[in-house]
Amino acid sequence: MAGVPLKDVTLPDVKKVLLLSKHADYIQAFEKDKDDYEYVTTEFLRMSGIYWGLTAMDLMDQLHRMSKDEVIRFISDCQDKESGGISPSLHHDPHLLYTLSALQILTLYDCVDTIDQEGVVRYITNLQQPDGSFHGDKWGEVDTRFSFCSLATLALLGRLEAVDVPKAVEYIVSCMNFDGGFGRIPGSESHAGQVYCCVGALAVAGALHRVDADRLGWWLCERQLPSGGLNGRPEKLPDVCYSWWVLASLKMIDRLHWISTDKLIEFILACQDDETGGFSDRPGDWVDPFHTLFGLAGLSLLGNKEIKPVNPVLCMPEDVLERIGLKFRLL
Ligand code: FPP
Ligand code: ZN
Repeated sequence: MAGVPLKDVTLPDVKKVLLLSKHADYIQAFEKDKDDYEYVTTEFLRMSGIYWGLTAMDLMDQLHRMSKDEVIRFISDCQDKESGGISPSLHHDPHLLYTLSALQILTLYDCVDTIDQEGVVRYITNLQQPDGSFHGDKWGEVDTRFSFCSLATLALLGRLEAVDVPKAVEYIVSCMNFDGGFGRIPGSESHAGQVYCCVGALAVAGALHRVDADRLGWWLCERQLPSGGLNGRPEKLPDVCYSWWVLASLKMIDRLHWISTDKLIEFILACQDDETGGFSDRPGDWVDPFHTLFGLAGLSLLGNKEIKPVNPVLCMPEDVLERIGLKFRLL
């Protein structure tokens, strides 16, 4: 029987170099132009957007070009006094996704003491369920992304003991599939984004030995397509953000050398826009700050020396985590 043709893209003939200064200009302009259509329509995820942009800038050693005071004030205004959680933007509801992004930004700026830290701890503690899983917010959705957000945020605060970590670990392990990957909830399909969250959460919890590293490493390597790019699941197109979700997972389980790094570097570089700066999901598409961060962070994991070393668990510069003395035991 003939095989199913792989969905993939063709790379341009000319190989590209890393356009670092253009990427920094692109992120700085994105932050400044608050009337831009894309900026306005992404308000519901603003806090994460700021984390993507600032982390990209810090990885390029350009964080000083961004408006620190404005961001710190914005985060404080986004903290819900009652629940302690942090929202993506003013007048939105708090959620674990944006609470983590806010703590990552505050850590980059060494300003965690500008918010009510006990409030954040209380918010997370109240969202843990008896089976160890976490609701994302008061509406009750369960997803392994929220396990990661909870443990990662508490690790940044040095307050992991505020939740039941062994139960959180058991819940994550219950989401492991026959292929070694992880899904959103028990029984749901393996997805590289969820794999990153589960492996990352286990790394924070000091429980990476619960991963079947060879089986998972194999599944993750199968994400590489002939173009060199990585997809998130079988039958999907390659996408630059999966350079992060897949590579960071491989790094945490010590299997990064199992993929073809030269081909992946070529794919990531082909996703740069030579004129505007920034990275897109695939060659020729529109660029955005999300894919720009994960393109840069992926290249950093692949050893590019023009970009600061990135931590595979938290997607933050290693020097920032060193400053606060946060270290994770990887395989
Ligand atoms: C794919 O999403 C990605 C995920 C499911 C992982 C998301 C990870 C977090 C929210 C944790 C915080 C992240 C960091 C870096 C600190 P998608 O909706 O694009 O999936 P699709 O490609 O299947 O559409
Ligand atoms: Zn993507």
